Parts: sequence; C-alpha cells; structure tokens
Amino acid sequence: MTIPRTLEWIGELPGVLRLLDQTRLPTEVCYRDCETVDELVVAIRALAVRGAPAIGCAAAYGVCLGLRTEVDRDEAAFFAALNDCVQQLAASRPTAVNLFWALERMRRTAESQRGRLPPRGILERLLQEARAIEAEDRAMCRAIGRHGAALLKDGDGVLTHCNAGGLATSDFGTALAVIFQANKDGKQLHVWVDETRPLLQGARLTAWELMAREVPCTLICDNMAAQVMRSGRLQAVVVGADRIAANGDVANKIGTYGVAVLAAAHGVPFYVAAPSSTFDLSLDSGDRIPIEQRAAEEITHGFGRQTAPSGVTVYNPAFDVTPASLVRGMVYEHGVISPVNAATLAAALGSRERRADVV
Ligand code: MRU
Repeated sequence: MTIPRTLEWIGELPGVLRLLDQTRLPTEVCYRDCETVDELVVAIRALAVRGAPAIGCAAAYGVCLGLRTEVDRDEAAFFAALNDCVQQLAASRPTAVNLFWALERMRRTAESQRGRLPPRGILERLLQEARAIEAEDRAMCRAIGRHGAALLKDGDGVLTHCNAGGLATSDFGTALAVIFQANKDGKQLHVWVDETRPLLQGARLTAWELMAREVPCTLICDNMAAQVMRSGRLQAVVVGADRIAANGDVANKIGTYGVAVLAAAHGVPFYVAAPSSTFDLSLDSGDRIPIEQRAAEEITHGFGRQTAPSGVTVYNPAFDVTPASLVRGMVYEHGVISPVNAATLAAALGSRERRADVV
C-alpha cells in the first residue's frame, strides 16, 4: 500500500496546505486543504495534523498561508501580519516545542530579509524555508531510523505508545523509523501497539502504519502492557517525544510515563526517539514543560458514544513527563545519547545550532 503524505504544499504561491485528515483514519483516507491560518489552527487543535514534528512543519507553511494576502502592503503592515499569524499559530497547542521552534525559524528568516526584499520576495523566501524545514525533517527521521535500528535485535518484541510514525512527521517517523529501519535491515520484530486512550492514536494510526509497511504487530489496550512485559514478550520500548528538557525529562503522550515505570520494573530498556527540533534546552527540567489539557468529552463521549455519567468531573492531560532516569537512551539524528542527563544532552546538542545538518 502506498502511504499517503502527511502534509504537502500544493502549487507555488499563493498555494494551499494539504493535510491528510488523521481524524478520519484508519477507515478513510481523505485530505483537508487549508487556505488560511484560521483553518490550519482548527485542523491542529482537532488533531487532523498532529505529532510534534508534523505540527512544526504545518505551522511553518501556516506562516506562508497567513501572508499570502499581505504581499501588496507596506513593510510595516507585512511584518505586523507576520506577527499576528505567528501568535495565532503559537496558540494552537502548547506542548510540542517543534511548533515554536519552526515559528521562530520562520520569524528569523523574515527578519533577515527585512529592508532587503519587498514583501512578495520575503514571502517567497519564507516558502523556501518552510520547504527546507519539511525536507530536513524527512532527513532527520531517516537518520534516526539508521541510528536507532542498531538498538533492536532480531526476534525482539517492541512496545510503542501513541503514534510517532510517518503520520507524526513529514515522513517515516521517529520511534517507528527505528522499527521500520530494523525491519528493513531484515530483523524479525514483533511490535506491541498501545491503543493510547483517549484518542486512540496507537490503534487508529500506529497499527495502520505498521500494517501498511507489513511489520508484524499486535494491538493491546493500554492497561495490558504490564501483562505483556511480565510474560517476557518485550525486549524494548521505543516512543517519540513532544518536548525534551535540558536534563533529559521527556514530555510525550499521556501514558508514556506509566509505560516507562513498567519497563523499569521489568528490566526492559526504554528508548526515546526524537529530532533535535524536539529538544528544549531553555527548560532545565520537565516540570516546566506546559502540558495541554483537553476537552472532557474526549473521555466521556469518545468517538460519539457517551461512556460516563453526565456531569462527571474529568481530568484530561494530553501529555505526561517521563523522568530522564527512566530513559536508557535517546536516539536523535546524530546518534544515540546514553546515559541521559544534562551533561550528555548539552554535549550532544548544546554546541550545535538548533537546526539539522544532516540534509
Ligand atoms: O496529541 P498528539 O497526537 O499530537 O501526540 C503525539 C505524541 O505524543 C507523539 O508521541 C509525539 O508527538 C512524537 S511524534 C514523532
């Protein structure tokens, strides 16, 4: 089966941003074309496009959408419009740092051309930059796959949580890239897929991607992971990340922390795979990572049916934070960071410009 693109800029300028509508998977493959920042913000909040790197790529193109109608204005008005759309996109979701990383990169690109190019020329330059962000993301995912594949052995059972595949990036994924690459290298793996309550990214998206690439997998409810580990079927856990603090604490989909605790209790290595755009060295620990709270209805009325009493109080954080001490290794585009702590992260990332140099 050909795997559809997560996102694609169609045409040159003015152009539209085409998103694979992930709310409709796995039963329907359909697209959502965004022509305005408002439409894109709605799509990001609804998780039509989701996963940290994919949100960053979409936001970069979103800046181009927002400026399409501003090219005949004077420089001050153009930059005021740029500010507005950056702020609007930044308010779409709070946790994945790739969003803010991409917006900052777009803002810096525009500023570097201020006074040199007219607004139309700056917008052309911004579209090039958004395309570069997407191309670098693809390259980083492939590199993560190559570095991470070595961590998995022939015959391993591997558990993953949420979706850190091609759907969460511009292509190939982070945690799933490690699995896809090991599988391509000829290792026989069996992947255990946590369904990932409440929005079922594991069941709807990860199982679909693994099956599309013919990687053997078994879907389980989140509360079954302990039993699978206890029965000796798991040799590794690999997950993605939404934001990694300077000390190595990892924000990822709610439930990841529980999986890490279970893995430690069963002696199963727990790995995180993420590009450098997911590291936020400005935060000293995971305690400072903002955690998105989502609507109660996602739990009480998941997928259209009421499953809890009306009026019940609900707590619905979309992410949790796994302490660095539970992470055996971090796969990024330049290798594997292990052990995981402030010093090893600073040595690996601190001296690099926060931009991929693998393309
Ligand atoms: O709410 P989502 O679906 O955007 O959450 C996604 C995750 O938590 C992923 O694991 C993470 O973004 C890594 S994606 C390569």
